[in-house]
Amino acid sequence: MIVTKELDLLDIQGNVLRVYGRFRYPVARYVFLNLRDSAKGRAFVGAVTGRVTTSANWGPGPDQVPQPDWTVNIAFTYQGLKELELPRTSLIGFSPEFVAGMKGRKDILGDDGPSSPQYWDPIWRENRETREQDVHVFISLNAHTKGLLEDGYAWLKGVIEATQGGVVLLSGHLGDNHAVMDYQDGQAVMENGQPSAKEHFGYTDGIGDPVFEGLPRGSASVLGRGKQMADGSWAPLAVGEFLLGHIDEAQEYPPAPNPILLSRNGTYMVYRKLHENVGTFNAYLDEHAKHFPGGKELLAAKFVGRWRDNGAPLVKAPDQASKAAFDAQLAAADPQGQDALLSSFTYDDDMSGGRCPFSAHIRRINPRASLEFTRDPTDVPGSLKVSKDAFDTPGALTNRRRILRRGLPYGEVKDPTRDDGNHGIIIMILNVDINRQFEFVQQQWINYGNDFKAANDKEILLGNHSADERFASKAVIQVDPNGDDPPYFLSKIPRLVETRGGDYFFVPSMTALRMIAKGLVDPT
Ligand code: HEM
Repeated sequence: MIVTKELDLLDIQGNVLRVYGRFRYPVARYVFLNLRDSAKGRAFVGAVTGRVTTSANWGPGPDQVPQPDWTVNIAFTYQGLKELELPRTSLIGFSPEFVAGMKGRKDILGDDGPSSPQYWDPIWRENRETREQDVHVFISLNAHTKGLLEDGYAWLKGVIEATQGGVVLLSGHLGDNHAVMDYQDGQAVMENGQPSAKEHFGYTDGIGDPVFEGLPRGSASVLGRGKQMADGSWAPLAVGEFLLGHIDEAQEYPPAPNPILLSRNGTYMVYRKLHENVGTFNAYLDEHAKHFPGGKELLAAKFVGRWRDNGAPLVKAPDQASKAAFDAQLAAADPQGQDALLSSFTYDDDMSGGRCPFSAHIRRINPRASLEFTRDPTDVPGSLKVSKDAFDTPGALTNRRRILRRGLPYGEVKDPTRDDGNHGIIIMILNVDINRQFEFVQQQWINYGNDFKAANDKEILLGNHSADERFASKAVIQVDPNGDDPPYFLSKIPRLVETRGGDYFFVPSMTALRMIAKGLVDPT
């Protein structure tokens, strides 16, 4: 076993540490399976484990392994782990929200109205009603090309067939024209014939992803991605926020099932299919752009906190003129410099939200240190060094709410004036504590504004905005408190994103996969 100085990369599944899209894998297929026979199910896990992509180094270096044409990763629902006959003493160690599953947590998640489970894709709607329809296993395939993806899928179908009915592929994903598909495909949005980092509302995505201790050399820079320190520097987050069996930000081991070999280097994954109402988004943006003083693109940037074309952060480029200067800097920078320009920022000089509104997507989801008490006005601007407040620990309220993001857009926008096409995002959120991390962000920060001094205002893009006029959503686009402009009010915000299904999964380490496959999970 190759153990790097930091993390055991050969033991950690590749989708945990890598954003595959950045490694030239612009297409993916997500497949969900039902286990009909425990022994055959374990044999299936064994056969897949031999092909699972780990986090081992693909770059130059002593521990290098060849980069595959297509990748394979596997995860299980709680029901799946039961079917695989994990001992009861191990099963009781999994978290209650994982046991309940995503549908069971709909009220916490705000999956109501058009996001209610009754409208989800059939595979998610129907599971848990009979054992034969339960989703037990998740397999993801990512590939360089569509042709290679089909190779991976043919391999997978072969492994499923070899179980002679012991493992069954579940159909029920809605595709183009509501066709019912055997799998969920994901693919990068194409621009000029090339895969891009865009999603269907036109934003540049996939910039911010937390950096934690022990990541392989050459990983993304810690600036803006790690945690803010009192002296203004950035440090990697604790591994235990993202991988079980490691110390977390509270200097503790996160709760995990026994034995330690089952949980260590594993994590939990939230799989969500999110439909984007592209027609409604465009119409709402156009309507408000007629009145918003800064113009359409600035307004679109205010929804997210970054400009659509290149992801320039509003805190650094708050208007057209500063954006032009930022773009010139970005164009002149090398890739490392570009990374720092796009990621390395705080909200320290924007505590009033005049640049990046409190209800913008990235500010709600990762508020950085902006939720701490106000700093002493005599502080050096931009520095937390001489704070006289109770808090000299910037990020104390956010460091335990960080999440890793994986996934790709799905479908294509064929008519930008309509909502009913097949287009959205498959998002996979990885964290060690679904309740403390993902669910908290979703419930408290996306669907409720109190922590941001924004009362009931929801996050603009993802909020579960109501169609009922009595509960209509609004959001405030704050302005410079020292200027003369009035704030801008977004009224009657429509539901821009709708949940179409998903569930909670456990992503085991390679060691755990081998133990599960051999029926050797022994909690004593
Ligand atoms: C259709 C749905 C969504 C769209 C269109 C979307 C779009 C975006 C965009 C454009 C960015 C800015 C680029 C970047 O910083 O990487 C972003 C950032 C981010 N999004 Fe989303 N997103 C969606 C759903 C979600 C969900 C459901 C979550 C988790 C609950 C999430 C978590 C994040 C995080 C953690 C960041 C980085 C924030 C930071 O560190 O500053 N997104 N998203």
